[in-house]
Amino acid sequence: MEQLITCAMAARELAYAPYSSYHVGAAVRGKSGKIYTGCNVENASYGATICAERNAIWKAVSEGEKEILALAIVGGPAGGDLSYAFPCGMCRQVLREFSDPDRVQIYVAKNTSDYKVYTLAELLPDSFGPDILLP
Ligand code: THU
Repeated sequence: MEQLITCAMAARELAYAPYSSYHVGAAVRGKSGKIYTGCNVENASYGATICAERNAIWKAVSEGEKEILALAIVGGPAGGDLSYAFPCGMCRQVLREFSDPDRVQIYVAKNTSDYKVYTLAELLPDSFGPDILLP
């Protein structure tokens, strides 16, 4: 967990967020044990922006991971203190596709010793997922 938060903090250093100046870093651990990181990457056409969490999840899946076991997120204004940066609704839904909602651990962190931990079932209750369409 400490390693995952450290990786998220390192990823945040690479955030490209000239429009919001809100820098986010994320790291996911796949079932293989490997860690994948992502930062938010904004775009002048705002809707083309990608969140740090989805960036990390898609990196993992595109490297062959099918299940995410844990996700760490750090975020805050550029040059300012980190606050608890909760994942947006779209990122929660994307995580739903590639995790067990009752088991995946989501660390919303300020640093390696100040964090909150949730399952996806807590952050996205009564969710719609692959099991509905692929029984
Ligand atoms: N952002 C994330 O990276 N993750 C979230 O879960 C919420 C928002 C980014 C998107 C945008 O670059 C900036 O934060 C402000 O919304």
